[in-house]
Amino acid sequence: MNTTIFDFIGDHTGEWKVTSMIALKGEPIEPVSRIKKISSSLVPSNKGIWTLKGIVSNLRYTEKEDKDNLVAIQEDLGRSEATLAAFIPIRKSEAWWNLAQDERRKIMENKSQHTQTGMKYLPAIARKLFHSRDIGEPFDFLTWFEYAPTDAAAFEELLEALRKTEEWSYVDREIDIRLVRI
Ligand code: HEM
Repeated sequence: MNTTIFDFIGDHTGEWKVTSMIALKGEPIEPVSRIKKISSSLVPSNKGIWTLKGIVSNLRYTEKEDKDNLVAIQEDLGRSEATLAAFIPIRKSEAWWNLAQDERRKIMENKSQHTQTGMKYLPAIARKLFHSRDIGEPFDFLTWFEYAPTDAAAFEELLEALRKTEEWSYVDREIDIRLVRI
């Protein structure tokens, strides 16, 4: 099984039932009632109503101390109590991609405190980041989060904090899809 490349298939079958789907910025995507995540390959695949492909990649901006802290406290996906999920495909603007690596890191970590803010919500929120930009996909990132109903309010608080940051001013497409495991 390929553990690097995944297809997120929007359709009417799959173990995650869509409870809401909101285009916060940019073009919406076609509504679906279920999402399925499967191990895949780079071969173009048109399954379901839409298919979004993402790759598990190396860290770009995280320094050793943060990495060690993350590894020590973060939880894996698939916990039985984590019955809620959010699938949030994100694209950043050309202005973001025209910045140098060190400028992007400064915006994410020094000015927007992405990791520092996020860390407060671990281990309650389990997360996984998939990269899509380099394989010609419509989004740059596919983000996936799983949490228990008791942590749903905390997740909203985290999103509110991140969406106010300078980093988010570079987000030009964001679809917020919420799910419940059935
Ligand atoms: C990237 C942590 C929540 C969206 C990252 C990175 C870290 C991180 C460490 C950098 C990875 C690297 O070095 O390449 C966290 C933690 C969270 C959290 C601990 C707590 C749950 C979120 C949320 C969203 C999000 C709620 C979106 C709704 C992203 C995106 C990137 C990213 C799009 C890639 C940014 C880029 O490379 O330009 N996150 N995050 N994160 N995160 Fe989060």
